[in-house]
Amino acid sequence: MDNRKPFIAGNWKMFKTGSEAIKTAEELVKLVADVTDTEVMIAPPFTALSAVSDVVKETNVSLGAQNFFWENEGAYTGEISSAMLLSAGCKYVIIGHSERRQFFGETDETVNKKIKTAISSKLLPIFCIGESEKERISKDTFSILDKQVSKGLKGLFSDELQHLVIAYEPVWAIGTGKTATREQAQEVHLFLRSLIEKKFGNLLAKSLRILYGGSVKPDNIAELMAMPDVDGALVGGASLNAETFGKIVHF
Ligand code: G3P
Repeated sequence: MDNRKPFIAGNWKMFKTGSEAIKTAEELVKLVADVTDTEVMIAPPFTALSAVSDVVKETNVSLGAQNFFWENEGAYTGEISSAMLLSAGCKYVIIGHSERRQFFGETDETVNKKIKTAISSKLLPIFCIGESEKERISKDTFSILDKQVSKGLKGLFSDELQHLVIAYEPVWAIGTGKTATREQAQEVHLFLRSLIEKKFGNLLAKSLRILYGGSVKPDNIAELMAMPDVDGALVGGASLNAETFGKIVHF
C-alpha cells in the first residue's frame, strides 16, 4: 500500500443513542488511545452526534455522520444539512450506503449531489458503492461499480477529490456474516483504483483510500488489511461493541 494512512470507520446505523452511545464512545477512546498509525472514526445516529462529539473531541477518534441532505438550508422537513453536521463536530459523512439506496430512494444522482455538497462544505465524503448478490452471480460486479463511480463522481475533478474515501461494500456481505475473501476484496479494490486512475489520473488513484465493508470482524481484518489495495474498513455490527471494534482498529 502506498503512503495511504489506514482508516477504520464504524457505522452505528440505527443503534445506540443517549447514554449508551456516550458509554461506548468513552470505552472506545480509551481502548484506541495508543493508536497513531491508523485513522479511527465512528458514525453514530444523528441524535447522538453532539454528545459523542464531546467525548471524542481532542482524541484520535473522529466523528462522522451517516447521511445528510445536499441543500444547505430550506423547507426540507426532517432533513439535516452539512452545516448542521459540521456544527455537531462531524469531520466525515457516509454517502450512498446501500441501505439508503435500498430503503430510502438514494440514487447515483442524489449521491453525486451529496458528494458535491460535502466537498464544498469541507465535510470529508465516504462514498459507498457495492453490487448485489444477483449482480455478482451474473458477473456484473465491475459494470455496476463502474456505473456507480462514474455517476457518483460526475462533474467532479481530481483536485476536488483529494479527501474522497471510497467504501466498497458488497451488499451480499453486509450484515450477513458472509465476508468477501481477501482475494475478492483485492480484485475489486484494484479495479476501482485503476478506474479512478483512468478518470482522474495517477496521483489521485495512488492517494485515494478504498475501504472494504461487509461483515468485518476481528478475525478477518488482518487478512483483508494485508491486501495492497485495501486501505481500511467500514464496520457495521462489530463497531457497536467498543472492545470488538478496538480489536479491529488494532489489526
Ligand atoms: O457501513 C458498514 C456496514 O454496511 C457493514 O455492516 O454489519 O456487515 O459490518 P456489517
